[in-house]
Amino acid sequence: MTEIKEGLKGVVIAQSNICFIDGAKGELVYSGINIHELAEQAQFEEVIFLLLHQRLPKQSELSELKSFLAENSTLPGAVLEILRQLPKDMEPMASLRTAVSTLSAFDPNLDNTELNTQQQRILKLCAQIPSIVAAIERIRQGKEVIAPDPKLSLAANFLYMLRGEKPDEIAVRAMDVALILHADHGFNASTFAARVTTSTLSDVYSAVTSAIGTLKGPLHGGANQQVMQMLLKIGDQDPVDFIKKALANKGKIMGFGHRVYRTEDPRATHLRRMSQQLCESTGQQKFFEMSQKIEQFMNNEKKINANVDFYSATVYYSLGIPADLYTLLFAMSRISGWGAHILEQYKNNSLIRPRAEYIGPRDQHYIPIAQR
Ligand code: ACO
Repeated sequence: MTEIKEGLKGVVIAQSNICFIDGAKGELVYSGINIHELAEQAQFEEVIFLLLHQRLPKQSELSELKSFLAENSTLPGAVLEILRQLPKDMEPMASLRTAVSTLSAFDPNLDNTELNTQQQRILKLCAQIPSIVAAIERIRQGKEVIAPDPKLSLAANFLYMLRGEKPDEIAVRAMDVALILHADHGFNASTFAARVTTSTLSDVYSAVTSAIGTLKGPLHGGANQQVMQMLLKIGDQDPVDFIKKALANKGKIMGFGHRVYRTEDPRATHLRRMSQQLCESTGQQKFFEMSQKIEQFMNNEKKINANVDFYSATVYYSLGIPADLYTLLFAMSRISGWGAHILEQYKNNSLIRPRAEYIGPRDQHYIPIAQR
């Protein structure tokens, strides 16, 4: 009998230089550097370089990268126009998917698949996705779209374009760390989708569009939005009672559980600390306290740990970002990891094409329609 690995659980399909995860120890390492060091010391731009080149940039390389991002963050007018034409109530992740797909029409060298051109294409997406996310929000609010400020970092620029005012240092660092923590995570579902698309030798935009569509689902990146919606729904109710009822109804609690980690998700460690600081400084302690009660209950009673999405929800909420944009923030960061995996897939490509065990009917015959 064929052995079936449902959901490809535990299946290793390739070697990779990009990201190491030890699910038992709760370790996450980008190209040899532990996520804890990066979250404490790095800037997101350094992490983009690290993932794409598997080494940290020298000062001159980092300056060059920052200039490239600043010079390429403006969106084609036609993309903004398409965003304006989309229904106001369209899911923001669907708008992002549409906008990224549209960007391919404005790439004059689409046929050029040399490594350098592909790298620049990915960096351009790293620069443009934050502009798209901010534009989606400004347009649906009926506000003017704000042009990027080339003097600001990627994290600061995003907050500036979103809110229309220069963010303070605390907000910028929180955004920067959140971007670092979400940048890569091995062969997760959206990265795998990007690699499958790349493995057919399709283009970068198609691969990233596949990845965005996959990240959107509530079992993957869509969970962070649902965490905040759950906390808001709980309101003044007892959070533990709420969770008990949800579990009794066979509900999954968003922001908990992971395919790989069997202990604390190392990203949650930083996001919990940031959530506490930001909730306190913005007078939103209530949400942090609620989150802690839910986490304690899930740990003690269900032995299930919080994942990256649980505390990122309250971090973003404290930064004043609407809940339905949280998954877009994930994409703003993960584009760096997707890009690294797309390049790695092109470099050592083999078409990804698994098989299924057929269990449907056999030996049937065609019956003319009038006789059915
Ligand atoms: N709430 C309640 N029970 C859970 C949860 C949860 N969040 N997560 C896992 N479980 C239970 C399952 O019901 C299952 O129990 P059973 O063995 O009695 O049937 C057991 O734990 C194993 O869980 P699986 O769903 O089989 O684990 P899998 O590896 O397939 O799924 C997943 C992992 C999809 C992340 C799951 O934990 C989940 O749905 N979590 C909620 C959504 C979420 O937070 N997603 C974000 C993940 S991180 C990311 O993608 C960025």
